[in-house]
Amino acid sequence: MSPAHDFVLTTARTVLRIPEATVAPAWLDYLQRNAEHFASCSPRAASAPTLASCEASLRAARDDYEAGRGLRIVGFLRDDESHVLADIGLSNIVRGPFQACHLGYRLDRAHEGRGYMREMLRAVVAHAFESLRLHRIMANYVPTNERSGRVLRSLGFQVEGYARDYLKLDGVWKDHLLTSLVNPDPHFDEGR
Ligand SMILES: CC(C)(COP(=O)(O)OP(=O)(O)OC[C@H]1O[C@@H](n2cnc3c(N)ncnc32)[C@H](O)[C@@H]1OP(=O)(O)O)[C@@H](O)C(=O)NCCC(=O)NCCS
Repeated sequence: MSPAHDFVLTTARTVLRIPEATVAPAWLDYLQRNAEHFASCSPRAASAPTLASCEASLRAARDDYEAGRGLRIVGFLRDDESHVLADIGLSNIVRGPFQACHLGYRLDRAHEGRGYMREMLRAVVAHAFESLRLHRIMANYVPTNERSGRVLRSLGFQVEGYARDYLKLDGVWKDHLLTSLVNPDPHFDEGR
């Protein structure tokens, strides 16, 4: 596996990286600008984010990647890496007979409705299947989050079930639709 600072995925309009702690001010600005927008899909934080907590979370993302525990990446517009556009995570990576992970994603509200998330997630899904050689990506969403449902459907994720009181978001246990995407390559794990 390449070191975290070499990790990069590029799409037509975006670039995705595991950022250095120097990105913390832009990361903090992204979280503050979107605090209300992200509240309904995030656990209630014990305290508001600070520069120090942002530096720590970026350091933790690099450690997780290097330990093979997960992939937490930050997306930027290709022509402006001074502002954070989105963050995407592959978490709970389980190997053995499961070879699966969970997918999470958030996009700066100011950039909704332009297809950036689909574009970035296509690259992340390709990385999960072709480089990480995972078999299944699971993504779950609150049924009223129609934007999220449309993004997942556009990528081929299929609904597999309905989980009551699945995650405690913004202090409330919320039902979720459970979806997943399975690696279409039947030989993805040959040579492992
Ligand atoms: C969920 C979320 C990422 C969806 O964002 P989004 O902007 O709707 O998704 P995309 O960036 O892929 O944009 C898709 C939209 O852009 C439109 N679009 C415009 N130009 C486009 C282009 N060049 N290519 C593709 N789509 C384009 C599409 O038609 C689509 O609109 P529609 O859903 O009304 O049909 C965003 O609402 C968000 O971050 N919400 C808060 C966090 C959250 O809920 N995360 C998910 C938790 S499960």
